[in-house]
Amino acid sequence: MSFWTRRKAIDTAHAGHDGPALKKTLSWYHLVALGVGAIVGTGIYTLTGVGAGLAGPGVILSFLIAGAVCACAALCYAELSTMIPASGSAYTYSYVAMGEPVAWVIGWSLILEYTLVCAAVAVGWSAHAQGLFKMIGTPDFLLAGPHAGGLINLPAVIISMAVAGLLALGTRESATVNMVLVVIKIAALAVFVALCLPAFDASHFTPFMPKGFAANPGPDGVKVGVMAAASLIFFAFYGFDAVSTAAEETKNPKRDLTIGIVGSMAACTAIYMIVAAVSIGASRTEVFSASEAPLVFILETLKHPKIAAGVALAAVIALPTVILAFMYGQSRIFFVMARDGLLPRALSRVNARTGTPVLMTLLTGVLAAVLSGLLPLKEIAELANAGTLAAFIAVGASVIVLRLREPARQRVFSTPAWPVVAAGAILGCLYLFASLPAKTQHYFFYAQLIGLAIYFLYGVRRSVLAQGSPPTK
Ligand code: ALA
Repeated sequence: MSFWTRRKAIDTAHAGHDGPALKKTLSWYHLVALGVGAIVGTGIYTLTGVGAGLAGPGVILSFLIAGAVCACAALCYAELSTMIPASGSAYTYSYVAMGEPVAWVIGWSLILEYTLVCAAVAVGWSAHAQGLFKMIGTPDFLLAGPHAGGLINLPAVIISMAVAGLLALGTRESATVNMVLVVIKIAALAVFVALCLPAFDASHFTPFMPKGFAANPGPDGVKVGVMAAASLIFFAFYGFDAVSTAAEETKNPKRDLTIGIVGSMAACTAIYMIVAAVSIGASRTEVFSASEAPLVFILETLKHPKIAAGVALAAVIALPTVILAFMYGQSRIFFVMARDGLLPRALSRVNARTGTPVLMTLLTGVLAAVLSGLLPLKEIAELANAGTLAAFIAVGASVIVLRLREPARQRVFSTPAWPVVAAGAILGCLYLFASLPAKTQHYFFYAQLIGLAIYFLYGVRRSVLAQGSPPTK
């Protein structure tokens, strides 16, 4: 069989994952908490400032657009994750729907994306931990990368390696910890909103879109406008696949998953738009956009230094779990790709004592540490977004392909108005991709060329499907 036509069959996609059925204990409000816990992180705590710099007050619209596109993608995820309950996320769905080469491109994109998300969140964490590091006498040149006049962003390096170390020791995020962190993160944002409201000045909202709507190069060649900000801010929304992976444990998947997914996306979109609106009301976008910790900066300018320190502390406590979740996800994708024969199994070997792929986890940690130590947040987040957009496009396309090819198959959760929602995910992600900086798009395509070279040198022959098993449908 030619590699072009190699596909996994739905019924064997979960090979190796048979196990006891999970208890159905979750309701929609559990799912909303799960989603909010996985989603809220560096995006709102740090990228709000960079986004406001690109779009002006229109950054509020950027949040709305990115949220709407992600809601479409999230509904598609829910349908596929309940229909194909196997590890590997968008990579596995693409393998089933569109075949091995597309699956490879998506898997490779996910590996890059997850590593880059870890690096981006580490830089966001560092921006909030700077005060603590200064307190223990860390010199300035160790607090920023070369782009900001320093040598290395040491706090970002430390947190990347620390989380990788914890993960290698077998640490997992628990539901209780997640709940506590959701409360901390949301409480910090609520306090921020409450303190900004008295300083609200509506005149800060005009002009609303000083840099226009579409992403167009500004005077220094960097793309600006509402869509340029949306393509960056998109980062703030992902992580919701956590909700769709809980499908098996949901009491009433059809109702609860819809509410859980749409609810957590709607809740985050509303929270983000409110935080952005009060930030702009309290301080002009030109002023706070220069800060890497804009919420803390605004509270300081409003003369609330103690509460500003409290918000910074909330970010320092809560953000590492976002890194933990993405590093864990990364090792899962790598593991599944290695099990399928597309990557060397030796790299994903699981340690018998800790149950984790130690080598892979440490490699990811080192890579995230290097990237976060040397590069600016905006560039890392944009490249992570490129990979995620590719994965979301594949998920939308997989829904359409499987609806047409297997219309009669039972779907635990059916995406409502699927042609509209799937097309919305694909077209929305394409528009966001087109709005990314040209440099990011080029890096993304170079990374894909490297990936394809690896596939044709290695995976195309080593693929388990190339060995003639198991049959496709
Ligand atoms: N949505 C996650 C964050 O903003 C990745 O940190």
